[in-house]
Amino acid sequence: LTTYTRRPLIVGNWKMHKTLAQTRELLQALRTQALPAAVDVVVCPPFTALAAASEELRGSRIALGAQTMHEEEQGAFTGEVSPIMLRELSVSHVILGHSERRRFCGETDESIARKVRAALAHDITPIVAVGETAEEHERGLAIELAVSRTRAAFTELTQKEVARCVVAYEPIWAIGTGLVDEPTETNVVMGAIRSCLPGLQNASILYGGSMKADNAAALVKQSNIDGGLIGGASLTAQAFLAVIEIL
Ligand code: 13P
Repeated sequence: LTTYTRRPLIVGNWKMHKTLAQTRELLQALRTQALPAAVDVVVCPPFTALAAASEELRGSRIALGAQTMHEEEQGAFTGEVSPIMLRELSVSHVILGHSERRRFCGETDESIARKVRAALAHDITPIVAVGETAEEHERGLAIELAVSRTRAAFTELTQKEVARCVVAYEPIWAIGTGLVDEPTETNVVMGAIRSCLPGLQNASILYGGSMKADNAAALVKQSNIDGGLIGGASLTAQAFLAVIEIL
């Protein structure tokens, strides 16, 4: 399993977008491009497209991620997908605790922590998403919540295990809205995440929320921002490559 020593990392979260044909088309466009050697790139298609994506990415240096995962290896969990099923498709990363899943699918700090441990046990790199709502932001709770959610996701992990994880700071009010905070403000929150647990000093910590080519340079210039978790701008080759090239 890769330990990220703060390597620049760009992750595309496709959310509920892309049919099989669209998946193949986008990945064919991405894999034929020369990507900067210093940047790690991961794409996270929906479950239905993972097998096709795995095939398209064979031999390419773009890695494959899933958008969530169940913590059990198998069982009576209708609709869920297990770490073993993901590994079979060469999935190396999984987004856990995305705010959309916390909000719409009942994910909690406790369930996310179980999934993080399961991912690590199966050599899948967890990308743990944390972030505050607009209201929490206005009440000045961004740092406190980012820190408490990060610590909660990583309970019971050793320092070495924490160092194998990725954290994505995604303020909920910035997701899909075109709004971004001052990069220096974002950097303060991300610095607090980095120093809240031993092991995170050398981990890759990503920013997510309306990140695109226009604002990526100012963000990744910050001392605590190692890359991005990209939604909308990961859905076309042109927009995604434009962000990758900035890193
Ligand atoms: P947008 O880039 O579309 O704001 O989405 C961010 C996100 O939620 C990535 O996980």
